[in-house]
Amino acid sequence: MITIKSSREIELMKKAGSIVYQTHQYLKPYIKSGIKTITLDSMAEKFIRSKGAIPSCKGYEGFPYTLCISVNDEVVHGFPSNYKLKDGDVVSIDVCARYKGYHGDSAWTYVVGEPSPNDEYLMKHTKEALYQGIKFAKPGNRVGDISNAIEIYAKKHNLGIVRELVGHGVGTNLHEDPNVPNYGEKNKGPLLKPGMVIAIEPMLTFGNESIYLDDNDWTIKTEDKSRAAHYEHTVLITNDEPEILTGECKNG
Ligand code: MF3
Ligand code: CO
Repeated sequence: MITIKSSREIELMKKAGSIVYQTHQYLKPYIKSGIKTITLDSMAEKFIRSKGAIPSCKGYEGFPYTLCISVNDEVVHGFPSNYKLKDGDVVSIDVCARYKGYHGDSAWTYVVGEPSPNDEYLMKHTKEALYQGIKFAKPGNRVGDISNAIEIYAKKHNLGIVRELVGHGVGTNLHEDPNVPNYGEKNKGPLLKPGMVIAIEPMLTFGNESIYLDDNDWTIKTEDKSRAAHYEHTVLITNDEPEILTGECKNG
């Protein structure tokens, strides 16, 4: 069932989204060579709690951390650890927070130091794939219109689409209906209506589309060791333009 949020619920979701956005902004200056990814995780947990919110990945189906930090060939659900970031690493950080019962969810990919041309290409076009999808998050469109826009854009730029993981509705649950795949056909799937909130989240690779599950039973990695990027926003369907609840981060 796809829920339509009331204006009271939308206000709470805006607040949750804003806390997620602020968490990204807070972490960004620390994504530097030498920092342990576990340090970023504890900083994020304290920050989220200081805003009156709860880190909602932690404990979600047993996920042990506040952040998913996925480095280089890790696509999503990477575990923060004692690994120290180094120059040239491509780092995806996924932040989820719950405020007064409502979730915000946003991932962003950063580079440590200067990006290689290939990494810059991967990041730029994965981010743009997200915005191409968001454009279609309007009433009267269907989920397939968003999916198709992402697929067409990714294919045009020769990036691999990770198909096993999809975007989703967001609300009192982190993952709600509908699924929002990063591939699909125009004019197919559920109809979008004002008051729906969805997370759109392309996960694209610089290589082929095959992935595998790490021994930790969570982290998804590319089979061919190519690097991956992940950009995600929580988006409200309104009567006209889509409203991004998790901030712009456009200069990320
Ligand atoms: N943003 C991630 C997603 O939409 C959240 C994962 S939380 C985790 O799938 F607990 F599953 F890691
Ligand atoms: Co998500």
